Amino acid sequence: TIDQKVDSLLSLMTLEEKVGQMNQYNGFWDVTGPVPEEGNAATKYEHLKKGWVGSMLNVTGTEEVRKLQKLVVEESRLGIPIIFGFDVIHGYKTVAPIPLAEAASWDLEAIANSAKIAADEASAVGLNWTFAPMVDISRDARWGRVMEGAGEDTYLGSQIAKARVKGFQGDDLSQPNTIAACAKHFAAYGFVEAGRDYNTADIGTSTLYNAVLPPFEAAVNADVKTVMNGFNLLNGIPVTADKNLQRNILKDKWGFDGFVISDWGSIGELVPHGYAEDLNHAAELAANAGSDMDMESTAYITHLVNNVKEGKVSEEYIDDAVKRILKVKYELGLFDDPYKYCNEEREKERLYHEDHQKGVLDMAKKSIVLLKNEGNLLPINKNQKKIAVIGELANDNNSPLGSWRIGSDDNTAVTVLEGLKKYNSNITYSKGPKVFNSDANFLMDVEVNETDTNGMQEAVALAKESDLVVIVLGEHGFQSGEGRSRTQLGLPGLQLQLLKKVHEVNKNVILILMNGRPLTLPWEAENIPAILETWQLGTQTGNAIAEVVFGDYNPSGKLPMTFPRSVGQVPLYYNHYSTGRPNYQPNVFWSHYSDEKNTPLYPFGYGLSYTDFSYSNLEIDSSDQENIKVSVTVTNTGKFEGEEVVQLYLHDKVASVTRPVKELKGFQKISLAPNNSKKVTFTLTDKELGFYNNNYEFVVEPGEFGVMVGTNSQEGLENSFVKK
Ligand code: IFM
Repeated sequence: TIDQKVDSLLSLMTLEEKVGQMNQYNGFWDVTGPVPEEGNAATKYEHLKKGWVGSMLNVTGTEEVRKLQKLVVEESRLGIPIIFGFDVIHGYKTVAPIPLAEAASWDLEAIANSAKIAADEASAVGLNWTFAPMVDISRDARWGRVMEGAGEDTYLGSQIAKARVKGFQGDDLSQPNTIAACAKHFAAYGFVEAGRDYNTADIGTSTLYNAVLPPFEAAVNADVKTVMNGFNLLNGIPVTADKNLQRNILKDKWGFDGFVISDWGSIGELVPHGYAEDLNHAAELAANAGSDMDMESTAYITHLVNNVKEGKVSEEYIDDAVKRILKVKYELGLFDDPYKYCNEEREKERLYHEDHQKGVLDMAKKSIVLLKNEGNLLPINKNQKKIAVIGELANDNNSPLGSWRIGSDDNTAVTVLEGLKKYNSNITYSKGPKVFNSDANFLMDVEVNETDTNGMQEAVALAKESDLVVIVLGEHGFQSGEGRSRTQLGLPGLQLQLLKKVHEVNKNVILILMNGRPLTLPWEAENIPAILETWQLGTQTGNAIAEVVFGDYNPSGKLPMTFPRSVGQVPLYYNHYSTGRPNYQPNVFWSHYSDEKNTPLYPFGYGLSYTDFSYSNLEIDSSDQENIKVSVTVTNTGKFEGEEVVQLYLHDKVASVTRPVKELKGFQKISLAPNNSKKVTFTLTDKELGFYNNNYEFVVEPGEFGVMVGTNSQEGLENSFVKK
């Protein structure tokens, strides 16, 4: 068995070699070329040859990976192969929609398929491990990394976590087209204060147990091979050094048998956090807490051997970490063939494969959310005359690829303009004023033009003489992602000004939004008749949007995150607590703002279709208390065939730890032809009815449960049942 093989290999290893397996280095130079003198490249090279490196990140391409693997396998004493990791977040070369967009599809099969495509391409360039999925729940759109997750909801996030893990890892990890996944960032990174990246998280036990941890547990139950910790403090302890999280909860309580990787340098960051005295101390704390592999801190490789010799870290902990790492390498099949991911033929054949294009196009269409469609302005007639397409983003083939797509080639997205022109040649384009710097990249803050109105007049003149305006506005792809927090969530730069001017001269405006997070769009929602949320859809952006705009695909996406009216409402999320004063009183003494409504602009789960769905006959059968049946009839009352995500929310009305006003506990995506109905049935078990109390025990308490089944988190039919 793999366990026996791991044990016998471990018995041959020196302490230095064991610690070496716990060390991960960033890629540095062409290993066949001369060793550069600067930095620590020479040290890394020596360590590789000694077998003191268990993993590399950011080395890609069959040629590079093969060379490096060869160096280690042939020159180190035991020849233990390297595991090669990379951030394959939403595709490798063929770029899928950003993960938040994919979550808007609520289509688990399509999401799993998207991860499978990413794994297929990544494994073709020598990689066998992705640092995805990010399963951090977040309720704060200021945090740029919301683009990388599944949104604000724990239930939806858990289903998506499973789908993504399965998509990357497949059923058999030893297949050459599957890769190990990594659930990150353990834990509570999505709750960084004020949405500022790398900031502190300070949350209560109930939120931790019920909102933050379940998607990680779901990933573990789906057999995720690795978990990454994070940069943040959680209640005063850096999560990288949190023994309770990593040993007690993840490894003991959940039985996780893969390994934990630190985040980039997060072991070293224990020092500036004020938790460790120096790197030596940091190594001790992180290893004892259960961080199995050190990403680029050099803390382990420099200090762990001494820590063990001095009795500060037990050798059992080291053995446990190394066994976990070796086990994943065996499961990947690296010991059978260290070069199995280095198939040059596959590399040529799989990148940008036609099937991948189809897969990400399907995913992209399903990710689009129709926010408004007054007077059925959408879809547009394919023979429509005089269409104006306006906005810098309409003609951008880079920004729609989104953030965190470091394996991809720049400028490879189909633009909106290209996509629309395939359907209709009566299109004239005007860029409007400059919005972003054209050389915006992954490493720098995007510059936004706030002053130069050049181009405004031309765009407005075009709008005036056209029958219809399609205007593409939003964020740059690099305005979200890691290190990209924002304090303002409106359209950047002069875009709102442009929109208002265009709207003054032409009311037939279709607003296509591209953004990596929820935005605040009160004026837009009030005044613009048709709005499509398209996020950043990746390689097939223009084609997907055109199919929706011209009615070849009926949009079916639903928001995975609340859109607030104003930044001051953030964090705003549907599954909040009630407060003791939830309702209007004829004075100020109730829970509200004096200058804004409490409600969101667009709630969680919201999204329209070109057709209409009606809900009727909500029935509950609670005679079998272990399997309570809730059913509803959904009818397509409109003119188009369409898909609807039927959502079920529960409210445990009185509990020993107060429960949120409602929580998603089931959803089904169905397809209906016009005038057709479907009865949709949900089965509720204790799993859906229970919650974690503050001792982290899962409890199911008797009492009344409110049920709502509907089209979004705020609209549905209501009923209740009693759990005895
Ligand atoms: O995987 C990422 C992580 O999410 C953020 N810091 C860097 C890691 C490796 O690139």
